[in-house]
Amino acid sequence: MRNFTVTDAVRDYAVGHSSWPPSEVVRRLRSETAALGDVAAMQIGEDQGQLLTMMARLVGARRAVEVGTFTGYSSLCIARGLVEGGRLLCCDVSDEWTAIGRRAWERAGVADRIELRLAPALETLRALPAEAELDLVFIDADKPGYAAYWDELVPRVRAGGVLLADNVLWSGAIVDTDDTDANAVALRAFNDKVAADRRVEAAVLPAFDGLTIARKL
Ligand SMILES: C[S@@+](CC[C@H](N)C(=O)[O-])C[C@H]1O[C@@H](n2cnc3c(N)ncnc32)[C@H](O)[C@@H]1O
Repeated sequence: MRNFTVTDAVRDYAVGHSSWPPSEVVRRLRSETAALGDVAAMQIGEDQGQLLTMMARLVGARRAVEVGTFTGYSSLCIARGLVEGGRLLCCDVSDEWTAIGRRAWERAGVADRIELRLAPALETLRALPAEAELDLVFIDADKPGYAAYWDELVPRVRAGGVLLADNVLWSGAIVDTDDTDANAVALRAFNDKVAADRRVEAAVLPAFDGLTIARKL
């Protein structure tokens, strides 16, 4: 096994060699988000954003749901990977943060593919049709909510569709059982739940902050 530290230079190189190198729209959105201060750390990296676009392409996503939109970078990445006529439903509670996203979606030409619902995500998900019609799901909101979001979303994903969950290794704290932070505890329970769920097959990618990739059976 080869292991090395991913420096900023290595990450920039990788990001610059994908089919979606950073555009002016993405640069502007990322710098507007950085200007918000510490909360900007909630935004996924460009390497992960490119993976989201690729996942949307791989599953031929026509119907996608994102739980946790923030300033709209991850949603922009999913939206640009949708098939023609595809739709992304975004769930968040912050008008202030998602307003930044709305402007970026317009500039990126993907706004007409995205519907944003400002409400607790569990309410939005429970109101979705019960049919298994979703192709792609990205969960990246409040960590204690992950298990409930999973329960609402798994039955709504079609066979062969994919569910992604972010931050599942919680900066490594996931294996430190002395760490009883509420988010770490919730994520441990969530990871156990996914691993035991016979409706999916799942891999946990020890990249980014830990990304679960689950395929509905
Ligand atoms: C980690 S950020 C999402 C980052 C985003 N995916 C990105 O990469 O830019 C988490 C988001 O979840 C939202 N959130 C927190 N609790 C929520 C809830 N109960 N329902 C819906 N959204 C929620 C927050 O407002 C925040 O924007």
